[in-house]
Amino acid sequence: MGKNEKAKERREKRRQEISLLRTIPYSDHQRWWSKETIAVVTGGNRGIGFEISRQLAAHGLTVVLTSRDTNVGLEAAKVLQEGGLNVFFHQLDVLDPLSINEFADWLQKNYGGLDILVNNAAVNFNIGNDNSVEHARMVIETNYFGIKNMIQAMVPLMKPSSAGSRIVSVSSRLGRIHGRRNRVEDANLRQQLGDPDLLSEEVIDQMVSTFLKQVEDGTWESGGWPQTFTDYSVSKLAVNSYTRVMAKIFSERPEGQKIYINCYCPGWVKTAMTGYAGNISAEEGADTGVWLALLPDQAITGKFFAERREVRF
Ligand SMILES: NC(=O)c1ccc[n+]([C@@H]2O[C@H](COP(=O)([O-])OP(=O)(O)OC[C@H]3O[C@@H](n4cnc5c(N)ncnc54)[C@H](OP(=O)(O)O)[C@@H]3O)[C@@H](O)[C@H]2O)c1
Repeated sequence: MGKNEKAKERREKRRQEISLLRTIPYSDHQRWWSKETIAVVTGGNRGIGFEISRQLAAHGLTVVLTSRDTNVGLEAAKVLQEGGLNVFFHQLDVLDPLSINEFADWLQKNYGGLDILVNNAAVNFNIGNDNSVEHARMVIETNYFGIKNMIQAMVPLMKPSSAGSRIVSVSSRLGRIHGRRNRVEDANLRQQLGDPDLLSEEVIDQMVSTFLKQVEDGTWESGGWPQTFTDYSVSKLAVNSYTRVMAKIFSERPEGQKIYINCYCPGWVKTAMTGYAGNISAEEGADTGVWLALLPDQAITGKFFAERREVRF
């Protein structure tokens, strides 16, 4: 059997293991959440975000499904409400400060804050073998700065609890520092991103700003950036790195006010983003995100996961 076939077989085996794991209910002592536990999901109107909303609500939480388009979001929430789930809708565009402020006020007034934030909203303009950076600014803005905007706005609203609040960002293996393929060529930058003592928000911001500058002056192709879906990969590399920066900052919060933050790759999922290519359903793609959001009282933070397992950044 060739290397690719073996990998395919391993993937299929893990996929089956996970569908089994999903059938095992959480025991009462694992369930740190209740109907009063509030989970906010960005980009919840379709794809993986919709599924994460559905699964969290099916576990008994109250879900605030958000979407930048009000009509589409209301419709999505209605589908889940009609299934008997505790899901509410509010408009939210992760790039619009006004929309974020209005949402934060509404959330505070109506729910007194939140316990879980799922950063799911993102864009990707490349499909198949394309690799255009025409929309690089929008990709970096939405996928990286959108998450920063949301974390900044939501952290002050996170409810103190002994189980800790949770932030889960949907990211991608395409953004790994140490991936065998598709990594940044600059060993110095890789070292800065990979070493907790060197990594900082400034390092990440500098990286994305250098990338965008090279896109603007037409030199990005010789910049040593990841070769597949370059703009998207840089955005997810930034998300993964930011997860570790924030985990370090949050680790200084006192007991009772802890926030655990992790990110994960959903796999290659049949959604609008992949033109409905992909080898797994949105339901399967949502699984690790839901699992991370609900981890029973364990202080796992600053890590990257796929298929319910930790993966090296
Ligand atoms: N599909 C995959 O194979 C795959 C693989 C790895 C990672 N991911 C990640 O999984 C997550 C979900 O992707 P998906 O596959 O479910 O794609 P999708 O169906 O295209 O969903 C993306 C969602 O993000 C929303 N969004 C985009 N910009 C936004 C903004 N400024 N404010 C608020 N919402 C915004 C979209 O809203 P509209 O409907 O209004 O556009 C949509 O709801 C993303 O983070 C993606 O990068 C996906």
